[in-house]
Order: sequence, then C-alpha cells, then structure tokens
Amino acid sequence: MRKKPPLRVNRYPDTVLPGDKSGPPALPYPDGWFCAGFSDAWQPGATHTVPYMGEDLVIYRTESDTLRATRPYCPHLGAHLGFDGKVLGEEFQCPLHNLRYATDGTCVHSPYGPAPKLSLPMLPVQERWGIVWVWHHHEGGAPTWDVAAGLTGLDNARDPVYQITDLCGYPQDVSENVVDYPHLTYLHGLINLEVLTPPKYEGPFGWVTMKAGRRIGPAVVESEFINQFPGLAGANINVSMPEFGLYSVNWLLATPTGPGRMRYSLASSLELLDPPHHRGPAYEWLSHKALRALQYAIFWQTKKDAARDLGIFHHKRFATPAKLASGDGPIGAHRKWSRQFYPPADSQAPDAYDAHRKL
Ligand code: FES
Ligand SMILES: [Fe+2]
Repeated sequence: MRKKPPLRVNRYPDTVLPGDKSGPPALPYPDGWFCAGFSDAWQPGATHTVPYMGEDLVIYRTESDTLRATRPYCPHLGAHLGFDGKVLGEEFQCPLHNLRYATDGTCVHSPYGPAPKLSLPMLPVQERWGIVWVWHHHEGGAPTWDVAAGLTGLDNARDPVYQITDLCGYPQDVSENVVDYPHLTYLHGLINLEVLTPPKYEGPFGWVTMKAGRRIGPAVVESEFINQFPGLAGANINVSMPEFGLYSVNWLLATPTGPGRMRYSLASSLELLDPPHHRGPAYEWLSHKALRALQYAIFWQTKKDAARDLGIFHHKRFATPAKLASGDGPIGAHRKWSRQFYPPADSQAPDAYDAHRKL
C-alpha cells in the first residue's frame, strides 16, 4: 500500500445559511452499510477516529491486516480509545489502564490482574473496492444484507483516488440526486440525456442506466452511466468510455456524522475496458502508472462536477413532501424505496425523528 497522509478531510464553507441551521433535522440515521473511509488510510498498526452516526468510531488495523471498528469508549472506565489507544500485534490497548482487547472485542489482558469480562462495542466492518464499510442498525442489529450482493461491474475496482468533505445534508440527498434528471443538465451541464433503463429496485439495491453527452471544446463526448445504489450509502456510478477503451468506477458516498450533517466521499478508479490477456511485469508497471495519471486527470473533472452538488447539499433544506413538477425525475419512487432504511414508526431509537415518515 502506498503511504499518504491519513484521512485528509475538507470542510465545506458556509456561503449562505448552512442546511443544519435551517430547522430541526429532517431525517434520522438510516440503516445499512456506509463508507467510513478508505483502506489505504489504515496501514497495519494504524488507528483513526471517524465521526459516524452521531458518535465517534475508532477503526484500527492489526499488524496481520485485520480491520476492526469499535465505538470509542472503553467499557472499563470510559477512556476514549481514539485518544492514544494503540494496536499491539493483534490486540488493541486502551490508554488509561492498558487493558487489551482481541479482534472479537473481548478483553484478553490486564497488566494488574486477570482480564475482566469486558467487550468492546464492535461494529461490523468490511473492505470492498478499497472502501471501508461499516454497518449501522438503529437497534444495533446484525447486517441483513451484503454491500457487494447487488452491485456488478466492480470486479477489478480497487485503490481509488478520493476526496472527503464534511458538510450539511443527508445520504437521501446524495442518493436521490442521481435520479433528479433535470439537474444533470441544468447544474452539471450534461446534454442529450437519455434514460436507458428506468430505476429498478430490489431489496436494498437500486439501478438506473442513462446516456449523456458532455461538450469538451468543439466535441461532444457521449458516455453511458450505470448507476447503482447500495442502500442509502450513496451511489456507485460506472462510466463506460468505449472510444477510449476505459471504464471508470465512481463513488458518491454519504455517511451521516451528526444530525443534518454528513461526510461526503467522492472516489474514483479507472480500468482498461479490454485488457490484454498476457501481461508482463513491464506492461503492468507502465499501465498502472499511465492509468493512475489518467485517473487523476479524470478525477479533476469529477471533483469539479461534484463541487456543484456539494454547495447545493450544504445549503439546502430537505424538502418533504417534495412538490414535484412535470418533467422531474422519479424522486417519489426513490423515496418510497428509501423508507425501508429508516427506523420504523414504533422505534425507540434516539434518532428516530418523525419527519421522514412523510417521505
Ligand atoms: S478505561 Fe480503558 S483500560 Fe481502563
Ligand atoms: Fe448532482
């Protein structure tokens, strides 16, 4: 893995009133797998604390490469494990009394007596496509679906370049933004938009494919966009560019950090559409370098595009019920599908605000 500064996070500036000051939070934290960061930020032995659903989450990687996520407070006397907690081989040591916890969360060592019967409050975590996914359930339930189960075309996706921004908004904003068709033209400047297959939803997944063009100088470059929704984690947008022999895997990922706030991760990786079968080490090295350079160039444009959305997300209010106009995208159908991710009406979850029931 390459070295890079861990978890560089931008904070979106307030230009006008930020969305979280526009009223009480409109939506509770949804259930599902959400991005907690990117694999390359966790070298073996590394620990980072990230905000996740109103609390901190301490994520660490053991020396033998096992990634673990735990809520931050030591069950012994409450020290924050992200403040000087450390990985020792396969165990995690709390900074206050040096109790050590195994990867299943069990306390396995005390420096001054038998290990007490304590367990860290671990959360399910997995790594896919270079992304760290953490499971959230409003009552602490175990995962009911796998983030990879409904997504296709990602077999070679790995090692993305990415940009992380903290701002106001909800994963719902990011997810339904993809089916807000008119904004693709009026905010992002795409032309000749054509929905090839309308949104289809099955369980926690959704898919929609479209075709659109972009003016680059005098030329119009047409691309096909395969959009996939892994729950309310955001969107995976795969862009096929057959004239260049390239396939770009993009992620717009939104993770709630606190009421009305989210961490937005934009990530992208690039592949050859039709790689040759026999690849020697020199080819691998050259193509990796060339692809990486191209990946950064394409990501520059992706970031420019996303910046338009970020300003909108940060300052908007979540409109519910939406007052849709003729020609709008299928926001209603998308919201109907989204309801499954929110705590039910009788939930005792502390974040189960009411407003989302009008979705
Ligand atoms: S508070 Fe963590 S070891 Fe005591
Ligand atoms: Fe957008």
